[in-house]
Amino acid sequence: MNTVNYAVVGTGYFGAGLARIINGLEGAKVVAVYDPENADAVSKELNCDAEPSIEALCGRSDVHAVIVASPNGYHKDPVLCAAEHGKHVFCEKPIALSYGDCSEMIRRTKDKGLIFMAGHVMNFMNGVRTAKRLINEGKIGDILFCHAERNGWEEAQAEVSWKKKRTISGGHLYHHIHELDFIQFLMGPAQRVCMSGGNVAHQGEQYGDEEDMLFITLEFAGNRFATLQYGSAFRWSDHYVKIQGTKGAILIDLQDVKVVLKTPYGEEKYLLHESQEEDDDRTFIYKGLEIDGAIMYGKPNATPPLWLGSIMKKEMIYFHSIMQGEEVEAEFKPLLDGTAARASIATADALTKSLREDRKVNVVEITEATEGAAVS
Ligand SMILES: NC(=O)c1ccc[n+]([C@@H]2O[C@H](COP(=O)([O-])OP(=O)(O)OC[C@H]3O[C@@H](n4cnc5c(N)ncnc54)[C@H](O)[C@@H]3O)[C@@H](O)[C@H]2O)c1
Repeated sequence: MNTVNYAVVGTGYFGAGLARIINGLEGAKVVAVYDPENADAVSKELNCDAEPSIEALCGRSDVHAVIVASPNGYHKDPVLCAAEHGKHVFCEKPIALSYGDCSEMIRRTKDKGLIFMAGHVMNFMNGVRTAKRLINEGKIGDILFCHAERNGWEEAQAEVSWKKKRTISGGHLYHHIHELDFIQFLMGPAQRVCMSGGNVAHQGEQYGDEEDMLFITLEFAGNRFATLQYGSAFRWSDHYVKIQGTKGAILIDLQDVKVVLKTPYGEEKYLLHESQEEDDDRTFIYKGLEIDGAIMYGKPNATPPLWLGSIMKKEMIYFHSIMQGEEVEAEFKPLLDGTAARASIATADALTKSLREDRKVNVVEITEATEGAAVS
């Protein structure tokens, strides 16, 4: 099989990590990178070219697919440029910060018959796959309710990262879209949504401008509900998803790491990651407060921890297999054409509107509007 050539836009913490992984895969090579600040060291390390612009990178005839790992608000231009040049795309989450931008990115990649995979890496966690299997086997009956928390405490920052600035990151809800995406995968698209919250404890120069407490209610067809909490104003950190069914419940604990199936017959425990070592490594890192509630992590030049590197690798192996001609499985079709990612952003936009306008919002107000609601 011919080698698939990749190019990477944004070689910070995640982009460099993905590039290193790709270079280690059989039949895969990173041939070029673009980053306004961090390209030189990475291109030397990977023995590839550092291109002077996104256009130059996407326009290369030897590039088959572009990996986009720039800051969240800067995904759209490279995705559209890659589509223009007929390159397949893997784009980090959140793919964009408005429904309208997601739609444009989907339309332009679809028009050219290209793959547009979203970096919703939770899909590749062993324990998430186990939970989906248990649900499909009927172990917890019908899902009635889900609850997720991704909370922690953020200290004053000497240098405020783009991850804390709403116009670039989208704030906690968009930046940590994983839990919302996963819940909608399980329950379908939310219909009516409500969000309250605000920036209650992080004003000033040493902080960004995102809301540090967000309280979300989602209403689904069939009298089903979900609630989520996000934020960096919680001294008691938590990171988990709880799935409540008619016959049982599942806890996916991403902090005190484990997956638990609870039924009237007892409890069964499963791994979240690939091994007990990886689960323990994640628990240790959270407890050491290095990534308190996963509300902030990942500086350029840092190496992802064991468990994260492992799911990033699974994600890249999957994308690479599709680039090599494997069929997309039915479950992953919405992940590989951008539509699952857009459904999460539609709900996030509706939630943003709810907070701004102090009312419940129907998600169709976003999806049926000609222009998507902007974050800012
Ligand atoms: N799936 C996950 O679990 C996960 C985890 C971390 C980050 N991410 C995503 O990966 C992306 C990058 O995050 P990160 O942690 O690597 O951030 P980072 O700050 O470490 O890296 C971002 C890089 O993009 C570069 N950059 C800035 N503006 C750019 C532009 N206009 N075009 C191209 N590059 C530009 C910066 O110089 C930097 O090197 C984000 O979308 C983030 O949400 C995903």
